[in-house]
Amino acid sequence: MRLAIVGNGRMGRAVAELAEERGHVVHAVVGRQENAGGAALTPELLAGVDAAIEFTRPDAVVANLERLIEAGVPTVTGTTGWSSELPRIARLVEARRGALLHAANFSVGVHLFLRAARDLAARFAGRPEFDGFILEEHHAGKVDAPSGTAVVLRAQLRRSDPAREFPITSIRAGAFPGTHVVTYDATHDTVALTHVARSRRGFAAGALAAAEWLPGRAGVHDFEAMLFGGDQ
Ligand SMILES: NC(=O)c1ccc[n+]([C@@H]2O[C@H](COP(=O)([O-])OP(=O)(O)OC[C@H]3O[C@@H](n4cnc5c(N)ncnc54)[C@H](OP(=O)(O)O)[C@@H]3O)[C@@H](O)[C@H]2O)c1
Repeated sequence: MRLAIVGNGRMGRAVAELAEERGHVVHAVVGRQENAGGAALTPELLAGVDAAIEFTRPDAVVANLERLIEAGVPTVTGTTGWSSELPRIARLVEARRGALLHAANFSVGVHLFLRAARDLAARFAGRPEFDGFILEEHHAGKVDAPSGTAVVLRAQLRRSDPAREFPITSIRAGAFPGTHVVTYDATHDTVALTHVARSRRGFAAGALAAAEWLPGRAGVHDFEAMLFGGDQ
């Protein structure tokens, strides 16, 4: 495939490296300096591109998506912290008959963890002697908190147990690629379910798989739908 990569940070670089290892062509890498308001994402630059992969910042992603969708490029984004804008972007995708796949987390392991967390929450529902809470740890450079994955995790837990709030504690320090823990704690015991990302390559591999899957599938998709189909 011929790919455009928008964002040349930690994730953009990991995606570009893996894409080339897998025999894809990296047609363009678009960084911040030339791309204020998505200005670099012109039809000329994007001609011949099969899919774009976008990993930037919460304050940049929406303009990038608008430009990519307007240009008719199937787009995968992993940028977090913009979910309030999703309905508007979804309307644009529909109007343009475009294709967008978004995910706060492109790790397959995380999505299996989310399902296991849902099952765990169902087991602990109706047991008020246990406190249920979430801890997430990411490297010092991550700008949004709580993480997009922690927000999804809380929503999934509350599907199984709406009576709990599942408060989230965020740590931004060091170099962790991403750790999420659901804990149930009571006087006599603690139960915890943990997902630890060991490197960014797992996220990059998921984003690339999404870019391979998306062309030809109009509409807005998430990674869970791609992984599990109708089995939500
Ligand atoms: N979905 C997942 O699996 C997953 C996994 C990891 C991270 N993430 C999310 O992905 C995003 C990026 O993470 P990261 O670790 O790669 O962050 P990062 O290292 O800070 O990289 C973001 C890059 O985007 C650039 N940028 C800012 N505005 C831009 C624009 N208008 N056009 C093009 N590039 C622009 C930044 O440039 P400057 O440095 O010059 O500002 C920076 O190089 C974050 O939202 C993070 O939470 C998602």
